[in-house]
Amino acid sequence: MLTTTALSQSQLRAVSGWPSAAQPLAVLLEIARDLTRGLAAHDRYARLLDAVCRAVACDAACLLRLEGEVLHAVSARGLVPRALELSFPRREHPRLDIIVGSARPVRFPHDSSLPDPFDGLVSGAPGGVAHVHDCLGMALTEGGEVVGALTLDAFGAGSFDGLSPEFLELLAALAGAALRTSALIEALERRAQHREQLAEELQRSIAAAHSGSLLGHSPALSRLLRDIAMVAGSDLPVLITGETGVGKELVARQIHAASRRAREPLIHVNCAALPEQVAESELFGHVAGAFTGALRDRAGKFEVASGATLFLDEIGELALPLQPKLLRALQQGELQRVGSDRTHKVDVRVIAASNRDLEREIARERFRSDLFHRLAAFPLRVPPLRERR
Ligand SMILES: Nc1ncnc2c1ncn2[C@@H]1O[C@H](COP(=O)(O)OP(=O)(O)OP(=O)(O)O)[C@@H](O)[C@H]1O
Ligand SMILES: [Mg+2]
Repeated sequence: MLTTTALSQSQLRAVSGWPSAAQPLAVLLEIARDLTRGLAAHDRYARLLDAVCRAVACDAACLLRLEGEVLHAVSARGLVPRALELSFPRREHPRLDIIVGSARPVRFPHDSSLPDPFDGLVSGAPGGVAHVHDCLGMALTEGGEVVGALTLDAFGAGSFDGLSPEFLELLAALAGAALRTSALIEALERRAQHREQLAEELQRSIAAAHSGSLLGHSPALSRLLRDIAMVAGSDLPVLITGETGVGKELVARQIHAASRRAREPLIHVNCAALPEQVAESELFGHVAGAFTGALRDRAGKFEVASGATLFLDEIGELALPLQPKLLRALQQGELQRVGSDRTHKVDVRVIAASNRDLEREIARERFRSDLFHRLAAFPLRVPPLRERR
């Protein structure tokens, strides 16, 4: 009586339609072992795809994560690097839509007329498009929920002949588990990072809270305090102006403290202290690999401030190229991290301050008037002491 462990690879291939490439069992074992390894997400995905490509000879392979109705390529082989920046709404990509909607691996006829999501993205194919090719895909599930997809493409029609559905389903199950594991680890990391950033901001808020509240009872200051009380309860963007030292930061803190977001920290960004090359990532975050030194995905101040208040201090110093992106975040409550086209929704109340004459900055084309008008939905001028004798 033969036992399974004794079956040689060739016997196994002969019996079960296991791929003829490298040791399929060894590869599956490797993938399974990786599940418990502490790997960074993109390493985990890369190792998974390497293993898949060793188990199944193919010309291109892609691992995609499903978020809502959109698939995001998280790792790829045989595709141009740009493929990793793209997102694939399943409704716009019939092949991906079929794959995600199917409980079993899907194989498309080699001359199928359905457009391939990777047309123009396959490195090594003439013109980037492989007109006739073998295309295979499987939905990746975890706990019954579709979490992504794995696609394999080969130039030669019939390349995937003889691959047994059982082998593919096993591969899909392991790939699904790998995707889920990474998503869970990333969520934990994001939460830890968010907590860390919040703790930093809370410490700062506590330190600043000791700087006391606005002192003064002159008519000008009473008017200011009334305006603060009036606008605090709304989510209107406030632009605080006034000379240096008049207490703009104090006013910002007072508005936040009287708002419905007071339980959250006031997230402070000094735009004058942001070097241009990191300003965008500081505000909007970045994804791993977006630039040298971007080793991990990182949330920006806008995301950290979601549900809270963002204080954009010295807003007049914000670099011009960044202003449209800020305007978009204010107008639509959404942003994209540096290096990604994925949209993040944020719920942020923005308070900005400047000791510059912003209208003059607009006249000098150093500040955008549309951004100014958006920020100054509720302008507040803090009068200098000499006007409050
Ligand atoms: N009305 C006030 N009551 C109490 N403290 C005040 C008042 N105005 C200013 N201060 C104090 O003066 C200092 C400067 O205030 P703040 O940092 O808010 O100035 P600012 O308007 O932001 O100036 P800059 O434009 O230089 O950033 C702070 O220590 C603040 O506590
Ligand atoms: Mg200030």
